[in-house]
Amino acid sequence: MFEHIEAFPGDPILSLNEDFQQDPRTSKVNLSIGIYFDDEGRLPVMQAVAEAEAALLADMGPRPYLPMSGMVGYRQAVQALVFGEDSAARAEGRIATLQTLGGSGALRVGADFLRRYFPRAKMWISDPSWENHRVVFERAGFQVESYPYYDAETGGLKFDAMVAALEAIPQGDVVLLHACCHNPTGVDLNEDQWRQVIGVLKARKLLPFVDMAYQGFGTGLDDDAFAVRELARQNVPALVANSFSKNFSLYGERCGGLSVICQSADEAGRVLGQLTGAVRANYSNPPTHGARVVARVLTTPALRKNWEAELAAMCQRIARMRQAIHDQLQAHVSGEKLSRYIKQRGMFTYTGLSAGQVDRLRNEHGVYILRSGRMCVAGLNDSNVGIVANAIGVVLKG
Ligand code: LMR
Repeated sequence: MFEHIEAFPGDPILSLNEDFQQDPRTSKVNLSIGIYFDDEGRLPVMQAVAEAEAALLADMGPRPYLPMSGMVGYRQAVQALVFGEDSAARAEGRIATLQTLGGSGALRVGADFLRRYFPRAKMWISDPSWENHRVVFERAGFQVESYPYYDAETGGLKFDAMVAALEAIPQGDVVLLHACCHNPTGVDLNEDQWRQVIGVLKARKLLPFVDMAYQGFGTGLDDDAFAVRELARQNVPALVANSFSKNFSLYGERCGGLSVICQSADEAGRVLGQLTGAVRANYSNPPTHGARVVARVLTTPALRKNWEAELAAMCQRIARMRQAIHDQLQAHVSGEKLSRYIKQRGMFTYTGLSAGQVDRLRNEHGVYILRSGRMCVAGLNDSNVGIVANAIGVVLKG
């Protein structure tokens, strides 16, 4: 029956992370997966999360199925965080938001919804993009194309080429955009560039699907949501996937959201209904625990304040590690190529290392980064940054 099933080739991120766990070397360094580790190399439990959990445990109660669209209080808190407390679109009830299984679940539910109602649309992702974007959308039935984004020479954005490509995309197609902390390159648009891109999306009647998995890891919770809020302000129909995996350090709880900016409250109600139908067809309804924790932190002023401070401290540590790897690599890499370690934002830096060099880093030095050259700088710490810089220096020598 199953003879024709070929072996799974593995996932370029998750399988590599699993390989790392199996690696017996004690000096190994995991810079593969997009996970924030603290300066001791531990996955942190945020204090605000621990306090919210303690309060919830004291009053656990029964756990019936959640509604298919998720917990009401969580959905409202997601909307406020993503679109801002003062969002007019929110006040007018024009945003449909549902709880999803992390950001990936939001992408998948959104993809199913779009395939059903826009069956001829193609999906356009940046070149490069998060490795799983193509997989999610192709498995949902989309033809996936790409638009220029990263300039390997400068370590920055190919903005003119990106805009020219967007201008040529057929009307009605869907364009996947990263709100902030672009994965895998760490290269973002500035506010003027976002306004220009939104102008093109509107003029070409393209449908933006914004992935915001790293809100708070760029320049701050509000600034990182600039593109999303500008789309809502300009009343542009759009889908937005967000995640609390990284900014709450709640990876395994699968807490995310999918929001759709609509033209009226009535339309938002119908869109929410059909998204709910897609949830029912996939997994019926989402789990309770993580959503309760996130909603409690976001809506309890003291916890919220602590959470924001903890998140800001994580970002400061990442910035310090960017500077540290930059400084330690000075002996091995020319200045022009080095500046990208500092300029790129969020958890990732696109090192420019080849797949062969990445393999050597792993095999000879126990340093794991993605074969695309993506390094998760949030995995660096004071104890391993020297090891990583030396290893890179060795493989660069050839
Ligand atoms: C990553 O890009 O490493 C993370 O988003 C984890 C994942 O699921 O790929």
